[in-house]
Amino acid sequence: MIKLRNVSKIYPNGARALSNISLEIAKGEFVFLVGQSGAGKSTLIKLLYREEIATRGQVFIDNINLVRLKPHQVPKVRRNIGVIFQDFKLLPTKTVFENVAFAQHVIGKNKHEIKANTENILELVGLGKKKDSFPSELSGGEQQRVCVARALVNHPSLLVADEPTGNLDIETAWGIMELLNQINRLGTTVVMATHALQIVQQMNKRVVRVEEGKIAEDTSGGAYRFGF
Ligand SMILES: Nc1ncnc2c1ncn2[C@@H]1O[C@H](COP(=O)(O)OP(=O)(O)OP(=O)(O)O)[C@@H](O)[C@H]1O
Ligand SMILES: [Mg+2]
Repeated sequence: MIKLRNVSKIYPNGARALSNISLEIAKGEFVFLVGQSGAGKSTLIKLLYREEIATRGQVFIDNINLVRLKPHQVPKVRRNIGVIFQDFKLLPTKTVFENVAFAQHVIGKNKHEIKANTENILELVGLGKKKDSFPSELSGGEQQRVCVARALVNHPSLLVADEPTGNLDIETAWGIMELLNQINRLGTTVVMATHALQIVQQMNKRVVRVEEGKIAEDTSGGAYRFGF
């Protein structure tokens, strides 16, 4: 599903974030990206939803090379990718329901469909009763669950998450991880950058460690033994 071939990313100011990375992630995998601050994790994630474009190499998602994608093709590809951030990026003047519904209006679904989809996904993340609340009325964990719902409502085949538990206490973080695990079990590929060593160690998933823009280690399941 994801294939990076000899990918380098150099930012316009000359900062080299990724150097000749090759990586394959199969459909249905759950992969953690770990590594020190500045290693290149967020850059790698951004290449996957074409927030950034590789300077060299190829980035395939479902056999589409994002490096060569024409601007007008970007929305169609993004529709298939859910994105979750550390800071929740919810619209503060919209309710929980409206925040999740919004992404569907954009792609032109009808009202009836949107209502049914939104209610279903809010039930899945355990927020059925909070649909009329505003983000400011929710806890951090609840806000992140709204983001998970928003990322999933168009049924993406890939979910990318950049430190989704970074602003949450460990107990709340585990709630989000259970949700991501459940989504993965339903067939969505998950790629998550994180500093949360405890979560990585306990979840027993594939771990890709990035170091100075290169892949320093790639496990396939099994306990993650190394520090980062
Ligand atoms: N927009 C940008 N312009 C210039 N340089 C950038 C930009 N974004 C990131 N970088 C540089 O690219 C390198 C990798 O950054 P990146 O954000 O990918 O690291 P990271 O592994 O996500 O770090 P962290 O754990 O702190 O989030 C760093 O040296 C950073 O300074
Ligand atoms: Mg980062």
